[in-house]
Amino acid sequence: MSHSPIHRAGNAPVRIELKEGETYTWCACGRSENQPWCDGSHQGTGIDPVVFVAERNDIVFLCMCKSTESPPLCDGSHKRRKEDTPT
Ligand code: FES
Repeated sequence: MSHSPIHRAGNAPVRIELKEGETYTWCACGRSENQPWCDGSHQGTGIDPVVFVAERNDIVFLCMCKSTESPPLCDGSHKRRKEDTPT
């Protein structure tokens, strides 16, 4: 059993349409009930969400496994087997 404060919210990225100039808050801890967005559930975990402003209207794939090294974007890390995930 993992004691990591980061939970896997999904096994694949989610496709999102961003609107230019809008501010978004991506859940980094995986505990939010409003994935991929922060709902404040990270409080007490020591993990902060990633806040960003869309530079243009765009379609992106946001990480749901919370293992990406390029947050909030999927970098393919979800394809690693679970047992390969560092703890
Ligand atoms: S969903 Fe996390 S890296 Fe792809």
